[in-house]
Amino acid sequence: MADEATKLLDSGERLDAAALRALQLERLRTSLKHAYDDVPFYRESFDKAGVRPEDCRSLADLSRFPFTTKADLRENYPYGMFAVPRERIRRIHASSGTTGRPTVVGYTQNDLSMWADMVARSIRAAGGRPGDRIHVAYGYGLFTGGLGAHYGAERLGCTVIPASGGMTARQVQLIQDLEPGIIMVTPSYMLTLLDEFERQGVDPRGTSLRVGIFGAEPWTQEMRREIEERFGIDAVDIYGLSEVIGPGVAQECVETKDGLHIWEDHFFPEVVDPSTGEVLPEGAEGELVFTSLTKEAMPVIRYRTRDLTRLLPGTARVFRRMEKITGRSDDMVILRGVNLFPTQIEEIVLRTPGVAPHFQLRLTREGRLDALTVRAEARPGAAPEAREAAARAIAAGVKDGVGVSVAVEIVEPESLERSVGKIRRIVDLRPRR
Ligand code: DLL
Repeated sequence: MADEATKLLDSGERLDAAALRALQLERLRTSLKHAYDDVPFYRESFDKAGVRPEDCRSLADLSRFPFTTKADLRENYPYGMFAVPRERIRRIHASSGTTGRPTVVGYTQNDLSMWADMVARSIRAAGGRPGDRIHVAYGYGLFTGGLGAHYGAERLGCTVIPASGGMTARQVQLIQDLEPGIIMVTPSYMLTLLDEFERQGVDPRGTSLRVGIFGAEPWTQEMRREIEERFGIDAVDIYGLSEVIGPGVAQECVETKDGLHIWEDHFFPEVVDPSTGEVLPEGAEGELVFTSLTKEAMPVIRYRTRDLTRLLPGTARVFRRMEKITGRSDDMVILRGVNLFPTQIEEIVLRTPGVAPHFQLRLTREGRLDALTVRAEARPGAAPEAREAAARAIAAGVKDGVGVSVAVEIVEPESLERSVGKIRRIVDLRPRR
């Protein structure tokens, strides 16, 4: 690493591998004890599994402890997972609850400070520096995106433009007038902004933006290429989830763009086999599991994210990396025995000429079998022959790449619903069983 860049690193990023492992073990033991002593749920689940915090003598011992799932958080809604007295909680966030009862998460003052540090570290890894102006178009509110990005940007010493999501025409105006260097937004909403730039006749490559920090939903290398080319910026990936903290659990470094470094001095990752729960070796794909090492208000022990990825050794930082998320196990479609993720379709649609980067997946049932229709938008002005060719190319791409037949419908430009935050790719029209 160049000396200039090393100077900017914080003390956690400067640890060597041995010091990092030692720090993790010390923090892990404290975190297990905090969970066991202060959250009845963990006491019960550790007791049931026959393990005590003291049994954790090495990082590998963590695998003896039970998992925590989203269902556990729901059952303990709203405050059952909290480990500190209510008056020490400074902030609440909540998940949207689109897949059931919402879950609530809480932060102490120290948690908020650690979170701001991690987002500041993420923005710096993305190429942000004190004094940069940052346009935050993640939603503000119970969702962790807006406020998480906001406090991290301030912590780094940046100027925040708290645009939040929506009012797309005004976002374009603000970007032109206030001249931010960085934008933080979901990749799907960045595409909505792209359409709006074009509608207003403004060249998206001519703005002050030089970096985009995109996350909160899966996106592919093809999407990176599309956004980088159309806006003339560097596009990097930020990952996080409310149960662990929010954005700033892992971040891609702009100099390598080779997957996301996990800030594992605070969040300890494992990848497990989603069906057996067995811990998988580095490099194997499976479900990402996190244990918080320093959280006070709501420690999480072996929390199952349902996100699929693999762990890789560190490059630009000492911390291990995770590969770009393939998808969530909940978003996996099983079509005639073949597993399919929306990201696989994204890769194919984005490399097909004649279609815009907007698509939707419709799931229906034909007789006893599920069927999938890929609905992709024609680029404005695409001739009928080009549309037909695109439909054939997408169907062939899915058949070859995924191994299953799907129907493809090329729809009119601007006819699919646009994202203002996290996009919903799958429209499930199957009758409920
Ligand atoms: O989405 C936190 C966040 C905000 C991350 C802004 C990045 C930027 P939740 O609403 O709790 O929190 O949703 C967490 O979103 O388990 C993943 O399935 C998905 N997700 C988040 N970041 C990425 C990413 C925020 N970079 C869930 N790539 C996670 C793929 C992501 N999926």
